Amino acid sequence: MLEMKKKIKLFDPIIGNEEEKSVINVLKSHFWASGSGEGHVKEFETQFKNYINSRDCIAVNSGTAALNLALSLVDLKNKEVILPSLTFVSTAHAIIQNGGKPVFVDVNTITNNIDPNEIESHITKKTALILPVHFGGLPCDLNSITKICKKNNLALIEDAAHAAGSEYNGKKIGSHGEFVCFSFHPVKNLAMPTGGLIAVNHKKHKSFKKILNSRRWCGITDRDDVNYDVKGPGWNYYMNEFSAAIGKIQLKKLNKLNKIRKRTAKIYSQEIELESTMPFDDRCSYHFFWIRVKSRHKFRKLMNDAGIETGTHYKPIHNMTLFAKRKYLSNTELIGKEIVTIPTHPSLSQSDIDYIIKKINFINSSNI
Ligand SMILES: Cc1ncc(COP(=O)(O)O)c(C=O)c1O
Repeated sequence: MLEMKKKIKLFDPIIGNEEEKSVINVLKSHFWASGSGEGHVKEFETQFKNYINSRDCIAVNSGTAALNLALSLVDLKNKEVILPSLTFVSTAHAIIQNGGKPVFVDVNTITNNIDPNEIESHITKKTALILPVHFGGLPCDLNSITKICKKNNLALIEDAAHAAGSEYNGKKIGSHGEFVCFSFHPVKNLAMPTGGLIAVNHKKHKSFKKILNSRRWCGITDRDDVNYDVKGPGWNYYMNEFSAAIGKIQLKKLNKLNKIRKRTAKIYSQEIELESTMPFDDRCSYHFFWIRVKSRHKFRKLMNDAGIETGTHYKPIHNMTLFAKRKYLSNTELIGKEIVTIPTHPSLSQSDIDYIIKKINFINSSNI
């Protein structure tokens, strides 16, 4: 019998004295937010830009806001956007919010990332954009996807909500595509109370930054003291000072914490005795680690009874009522039924990791 332990959480932001102090300092400063993105927000943007080595960065208040804003830069009215269905619903919502139609494409069963071989057959005269997701932080095959985009004259926007600190071709995710969207939700590797960011690498990055800055604050432009103009619509999407102050400290720790996640993922990939688990890949941030099990409901209940929290990332979104089951996607349907996410956060002790592995292997060997 395996001994019972304290509850092991699926996600757990790492906070220390520095984060605590920064929150108190912002609180006492009485400067909590500005639509124009001054103070800690501006500093966070610069520091994150230097970290990923992008041309520009625009901080916003969520990954959802980042996607909505980035997609607003492409004319999607009556156009199609290719994306995976194995993702959080924000990825598809951003398409609809901007007047486009999501076209779901199947994923590869080894990586759970969009399969580039499936993309071309879904391209039509109406396709405007490809929107891949770096699933769990594992980088998509950007070389192939970029080639397809160039050949077919399509825009590429990356959903990098899981990929803060991931690398591709020796460069940080955020430095490749023209627009790359991050999330800093509390469960993410770089955690804030709420936050997101758009990295811009387009050659006209300065003018895009101007547009994005305006759209993240209600369309406001040409500020001069109390005077300003509004030339188009916008949203209240700007990041607050508490988030940015915490984010600056989280960013300093990101590489170190991702290294701990990678170590955990390596052990999982070597020691979990299941047929299908997330591969180990040194380039991955390991926002989460996924495994596939046959009887997910029973498996998750047994894990929960053993004090281990697990998750389901994700229920495929093309089956949600809003998307009216547009297409059968064989890999996605199967993965969607079997996938379970297990903890990789850096607070896990070696004995937590051993316990999680033992429990999974025990349930598996009991043929449940
Ligand atoms: C793949 C993906 N895209 C977008 C988002 C949206 O990010 P946020 O929760 O910060 O709005 C998430 C959040 O979980 C996500 O996992």
